Amino acid sequence: MLNGKNGSHELPTPPAAGALPTNRYAHVVGWGMSVPSRVMTNDDLARIVDTSDEWITSRTGIRERHIAGPKDSTSTLATQAGRAALELADIDPNDVDLVIVATCTPDHLFPATACLVQDALGCGRAGAFDVSAACSGFIYGLTLGTQMIRTGAMRTVLVIGAETLSRFINWKDRATCVLFGDGAGAFVLQARETPGGLLTSVLGADGSGGDSLIVPAGGCKLPASFETIRDNQHTLQMDGKAVYRFATRVMTESVREVTAKAGVPLDQVQLIVPHQANRRIIESSARTLGLSEERFVVNLDRFGNTSAASIPIAVCEAVRDGRLRPDDNVVLVAFGAGLTWGSALLQWDATPPAEPTGLARFRRQLSYSFAGLRSTARRGWRRVEGLLFGSQSPEGGQQPPKRGKTDEPHKPKEPVA
Ligand code: COA
Repeated sequence: MLNGKNGSHELPTPPAAGALPTNRYAHVVGWGMSVPSRVMTNDDLARIVDTSDEWITSRTGIRERHIAGPKDSTSTLATQAGRAALELADIDPNDVDLVIVATCTPDHLFPATACLVQDALGCGRAGAFDVSAACSGFIYGLTLGTQMIRTGAMRTVLVIGAETLSRFINWKDRATCVLFGDGAGAFVLQARETPGGLLTSVLGADGSGGDSLIVPAGGCKLPASFETIRDNQHTLQMDGKAVYRFATRVMTESVREVTAKAGVPLDQVQLIVPHQANRRIIESSARTLGLSEERFVVNLDRFGNTSAASIPIAVCEAVRDGRLRPDDNVVLVAFGAGLTWGSALLQWDATPPAEPTGLARFRRQLSYSFAGLRSTARRGWRRVEGLLFGSQSPEGGQQPPKRGKTDEPHKPKEPVA
């Protein structure tokens, strides 16, 4: 509103803290996952580095992991998981308001992987961005998506955790290459008036531990050079013991904090879906929390640590196996590079819809083909625009001529004192 007296803009009074519209809840209405078809077992790894199935299984619980093929990338896995989640929810991609991709292994530094996914899925009306919080990224993304819905800004948000860590692994480092795998998992969040869905979450960070788990090069601080490549600085480096200590501490603290914040006692939580890094970390947290291990979902034996994808993949499997049922309270809890951590308390109220009819399947196939066509047409039009208006600035004026070899060298302006 424009204030007549002094021309300043008056902002509406912000709502008091915690006074969000109480009749909007972010419910999970769809979920999906995707992993590459290639499986690498511990024995396969033992042929590459000095390790053994016995060592990996006893120290981590991991038996095998899925590894991206030449045609897979974070965006392709994310697109497949996102599509599966939208299909399950029977939601048209054009009804999605926002695509969030949590990843620490994006296709490019920019554009955001979320934009590639938005285009591939045909979410024509959606905004899109990535969240960088490593293995905690899915909890961060869920929290953002939920707040977008609870504030009334958006109705449908697609949150995806997706990683292709195999491309950032030093395959000669036995201490790290045995731990990770590739994959993606997705949730569709949608506004509902009935209470439920994501009730609350807790996020945390401690940047002082950033170098415990890091890909040192490739950013502006250490751009790619002969030396960074020679010294393997574009691959993941980890202080395993420091991360282990941090993980066991924050997992228990974070579970306690989120249940207290939500006002849901631990004995009313049916299931805990922890980040799938190491079976020993999960067992230690279960002991400290005084909970039976049965209440924890563990599938890292088949996937390894898929970072931001690990929680949504584990949720998909828990629903499929009937371990997560409507009206269950479930805690999702993660930790990772940053260092970061996060937990969310979710009231799982989603019943999988009936199998889609043949007509619905056909309609969807049509919409995916349309998304592909739309993307190709837009790329084509951008080329035509370039040919037609290439020499014009966006305002319609002529651009200055390109500087040739004989031009005067460019003199930088004197800095203003
Ligand atoms: N195969 C065989 N031996 C291995 C090995 C492997 N893959 N990796 C390490 N070793 C060796 C070490 O060289 C060391 O040998 P040494 O005693 O002769 O020096 C020995 O095993 C013990 O190594 P250590 O690092 O002490 O093992 P650990 O019991 O701490 O387990 C991790 C290592 C990585 C499994 C454990 O620290 C861990 O899980 N940390 C957390 C990592 C994590 O979750 N990261 C992701 C967070 S999102």
